[in-house]
Amino acid sequence: MTVTRRTRVGIGVAVVLLLLVVVPSMIAARPSFFDRYPDLSDEYGPWSESTHVEAGCEGCHVPPNVLSRTVYHMRMAGEFYLSIVWSSRVPNVFDAPENEACLECHSDLRSVSPKGDLQIPHRAHVTVLEMDCIECHNYLVHQESPAGGHAPSMTECLSCHDGDRAKDSCSSCHTEKAAPETHATQAWLIDHADSAADPECITCHKWSDDWCVECHTHRPVSHGTDWRAVHGLRVQEHRSCEACHESEFCVRCHGNVPALNFDPALKLVE
Ligand code: HEC
Ligand code: HEC
Ligand code: HEC
Ligand code: HEC
Ligand code: HEC
Ligand code: HEC
Ligand code: HEC
Ligand code: HEC
Ligand code: HEC
Repeated sequence: MTVTRRTRVGIGVAVVLLLLVVVPSMIAARPSFFDRYPDLSDEYGPWSESTHVEAGCEGCHVPPNVLSRTVYHMRMAGEFYLSIVWSSRVPNVFDAPENEACLECHSDLRSVSPKGDLQIPHRAHVTVLEMDCIECHNYLVHQESPAGGHAPSMTECLSCHDGDRAKDSCSSCHTEKAAPETHATQAWLIDHADSAADPECITCHKWSDDWCVECHTHRPVSHGTDWRAVHGLRVQEHRSCEACHESEFCVRCHGNVPALNFDPALKLVE
C-alpha cells in the first residue's frame, strides 16, 4: 500500500517538476523567447536575418560545456516566470562570446579572406597574440560596422597596425591594392588632386568617407628632419600647404600667414 502511495507521490512530484522547471526552461532557452523583449529588438532582429540563426543565442553567448549550458537552462526557467510578471526586465545572460563557442563550429580558419584581397592570418592573431574572435568580429550579427556590412573594419586593425606595433603598409594586408605606375613620378604628389574624379581611386583608397583628408593627416615623406629649415623653399615652389594645414598652423610660428601661394579657399583640412 505505502509503496504504491510513495511511487504515486514520486511520479506526481516528477510531473510537477517537469511542468514547472523543465518545460519553461525549454521554452525560454529557445531564441524566439527573446522576441518578447522590446529592449532586445536591436539584437534579435538582425540576428534573425543573419547567417547565425542556427547558432541560437546560447551558441555564442554561453560557453560550450555541460555545466555552463545546464546553468543557463536553469536560469532561463527563472526568466520564464520573471518575464510574466516583469516584462520590461532584460535577462542578463549575454556575456561576451568566448573563442571556444565560435570554435565549436569554425575550426579551419583561413589566412586569406574569401574575397581574396585581404590577408588575415587567423592563427597569428588568435593563437600567438591570444586575441578574442570578437575583438575583430564585434559586428558579426547584431549591428553593421561604420563601413557597412558585418566584416571587421579596417579602422580597428589600424589600432595595432600603426606602423609601430605592427605593419601598416597597404600591401601587408591587401594583395590587390599595389600602387599603380602613375604614382611613381615625383609630380604625382602635386598633380593627384587633378585625377581625384577618377573612379579608380576609390577602389584602393576609399576605406573612409574622407579619404583625401584621412591620408593628409599623415606626415608626408617631404617633411624630413630638415623640414623646419627648408619648408620656406617649398612654399616658393608653389606647393599648396593648405591642402593639409589650416592658416592658424603657420600663424603659430610666423605670427601671420606667409601669404605666398597660400590659398585659404582650398580647403581639405578638417
Ligand atoms: C554568432 C554569434 C552570436 C549569436 C548567435 C548571438 N550573438 Fe549576441 N552578441 C554577439 C557578439 C559578437 C556581441 C558583441 C559583443 C561585444 O562586442 O562585446 C553580442 C552582443 C549581444 C548583446 C549586447 C551585450 C552587451 O553587453 O552589450 C545582446 C543583448 C545580445 N548579443 C543578445 C543576443 C540574442 C538575444 C541572441 C539570440 C537571439 C544573440 N545575441 C545571438 C554574438 C552573437
Ligand atoms: C552553431 C554554429 C556556429 C557558431 C557557434 C558560430 N558560427 Fe560563425 N558561422 C556558422 C555558419 C553555419 C556560417 C555560414 C556558413 C559559412 O560561411 O561557413 C557562419 C559564418 C561565419 C562568418 C562568415 C561571415 C558571415 O556572417 O556569414 C564569420 C566571420 C563567422 N561565422 C564568425 C563567427 C564567430 C566570431 C563566432 C563566435 C562569436 C561564430 N562565428 C559562431 C556557424 C557558427
Ligand atoms: C585580427 C582580427 C581577427 C580575429 C582576432 C579573428 N578574425 Fe576571423 N576574420 C577576420 C577578417 C578581417 C576576416 C575577413 C572578413 C571578410 O572579408 O569578410 C575574417 C574572416 C573570418 C571567417 C570567414 C572566412 C572563413 O574563413 O571562412 C570566419 C568563419 C572567421 N573569421 C572566424 C573567426 C573566429 C572563430 C575567430 C576566433 C577564433 C576569429 N575569426 C578571429 C579578422 C579576425
Ligand atoms: C591587437 C593588435 C592587432 C590587431 C587589432 C590586428 N593585428 Fe594584425 N598583427 C598584429 C601583430 C603584433 C602582428 C605581427 C607583427 C607584424 O607582422 O607586423 C600582426 C600581423 C599581421 C599580419 C602579417 C603581416 C606580415 O606581413 O607578416 C597581417 C596580414 C595582419 N596582422 C592583418 C590584420 C588585419 C586584417 C587586422 C584587422 C582585421 C589585424 N591584423 C588586426 C597585431 C594586431
Ligand atoms: C592591418 C591590415 C590592413 C592594412 C594595413 C590596410 N587595410 Fe585596408 N582593409 C583592411 C580590412 C580588414 C578591411 C575591411 C575588409 C572588408 O570590408 O571586407 C579593409 C578595407 C579596405 C577598403 C574597402 C574595401 C575594399 O576592399 O574595397 C579599402 C579601399 C582599403 N582597405 C584600402 C587600404 C589602403 C589604401 C591601405 C594602405 C594605406 C590599407 N587598406 C591598409 C585591412 C587593412
Ligand atoms: C590599385 C590601387 C590604387 C589605385 C587605383 C590608386 N592608388 Fe593611390 N596609392 C595606392 C597605394 C598602395 C599607395 C601607397 C599608400 C600608402 O602607403 O599610404 C598610394 C598612394 C597614393 C598617394 C600618396 C603618394 C605618396 O607617395 O605618398 C596619393 C596622393 C594617391 N595614392 C592618390 C591616388 C589617386 C588620386 C588615385 C586615383 C587617380 C589613386 N591614388 C589610385 C594604391 C592605389
Ligand atoms: C614650427 C614652426 C613653424 C611653422 C608651424 C611654420 N613655419 Fe615657416 N618657418 C619657420 C622657421 C623657423 C623659418 C625660418 C627657417 C630658416 O630660414 O631656417 C620659416 C620660414 C618660412 C618661410 C621662408 C620665408 C620666411 O618668412 O622666413 C616661408 C615662406 C614659410 N616659413 C612658410 C610657412 C607656411 C606657409 C607655414 C604653414 C603651412 C609655415 N611656414 C609654418 C617656422 C615655422
Ligand atoms: C595616400 C595619401 C593621399 C591621398 C589619398 C590624397 N593625398 Fe593629396 N597629398 C598627399 C601627399 C603625400 C601630398 C604631398 C605632400 C608634400 O608636399 O610633401 C599631397 C598633396 C596634395 C595637394 C597639394 C599639392 C601641391 O601643390 O603641393 C593637394 C591639392 C592634394 N594633395 C589634394 C588631394 C585630394 C583632392 C585628394 C583626394 C581626392 C588627395 N589629395 C588624396 C597624399 C595624399
Ligand atoms: C599631405 C599633407 C601635408 C602637406 C601637403 C603639407 N604638410 Fe606640413 N605637415 C603635415 C603633417 C601631418 C604634419 C605633422 C603635424 C603635427 O605633428 O601636428 C606637418 C608638419 C608641418 C610642420 C611642422 C614641422 C615640424 O618639424 O614639426 C611644418 C612647418 C609644416 N608642416 C609646413 C608645411 C608647409 C610649409 C607645407 C607646404 C609647402 C606643408 N607643410 C605641406 C602634412 C602636410
